[in-house]
Amino acid sequence: MKGIILAGGNGSRLHPLTKVVSKQLLPVYDKPMIYYPLSTLMNAQIREVLVISSGSHLESFRQLLGDGNQWGMTIDYKVQDSPNGVPEAFILGEDFLGESTCALILGDNIFVGPGMGRGLVKHSELNGAHVLLYPVQNPSDYGVAEVNAEGQVTSLVEKPLKPVSRLALTGLIFADQNASVIARNLKPSSRDELEITDFLNIYRNQKKLSASILDRGTAWMDMGQVKDLFAASEFVKVVEDRQGLKIAVPEEIAWRNGWIGIEALKSIAMSYGNPQYREYLLGLGKFNEYD
Ligand code: TTP
Repeated sequence: MKGIILAGGNGSRLHPLTKVVSKQLLPVYDKPMIYYPLSTLMNAQIREVLVISSGSHLESFRQLLGDGNQWGMTIDYKVQDSPNGVPEAFILGEDFLGESTCALILGDNIFVGPGMGRGLVKHSELNGAHVLLYPVQNPSDYGVAEVNAEGQVTSLVEKPLKPVSRLALTGLIFADQNASVIARNLKPSSRDELEITDFLNIYRNQKKLSASILDRGTAWMDMGQVKDLFAASEFVKVVEDRQGLKIAVPEEIAWRNGWIGIEALKSIAMSYGNPQYREYLLGLGKFNEYD
């Protein structure tokens, strides 16, 4: 399975923060936002990642993440000329994906907690598409799904006025080898975008759209507005301070995955001027509560 991070968009609801800086490069407590979705893919054992962003920001992502070799990965880049909708990622990623299944994650989504680790690997054998759902208080702001006892999605509606459930579509979607062809055949909606719900409903009509509901202890946040950005930073700070374990440190995940050795980890650690981050990396391996 390969991964795509969709990290373009206008970020207009975050202006003036995002007038010159990409939303996905803004800090979420102690790391750039894109580290969080990247870490989710890495935790799912995905080693080949495509980052899609606007022409004006792509170079900054390349400077930040490089070619991925430092973490035992491959990271490629592709421009999205304008935010034409989430399914465009499958079109822009067609050559990158080849015959692989795909995990597509939105660059402003954070997932932390049970169910977000190696368990996701099972979707690499997918026939169809699989979505992760999360109960929210404001379902009308999201795509809303109904799911039957077999875990099949029976309805999926974008921003419904009268939601039939509280289950919101999150920004992590798994799709099989047909994703690019399906995305290419979509027509833009009335707001002139390719809609992810239209994309998924094609799978649903073929009875090939399954879903899982994230555990109650799992946190899912998307950062559309300033209050979300602030809440996410607070959340990360509270968890990190309490456990002494950091969330979404790519070097740590690469090392735990066995993609880089301890010497490489130490050498990356020494390159950081931030003493807390450096000492954290150097201290890995001393405590093994979660090994
Ligand atoms: P949105 O929050 O829908 O859009 P945005 O980030 O541009 O923000 P705003 O509405 O304030 O202008 O996008 C969700 C995520 O998906 C975000 O990380 C940007 C990304 N995205 C793209 O990269 N390309 C797209 O075509 C779309 C629709 C979203």
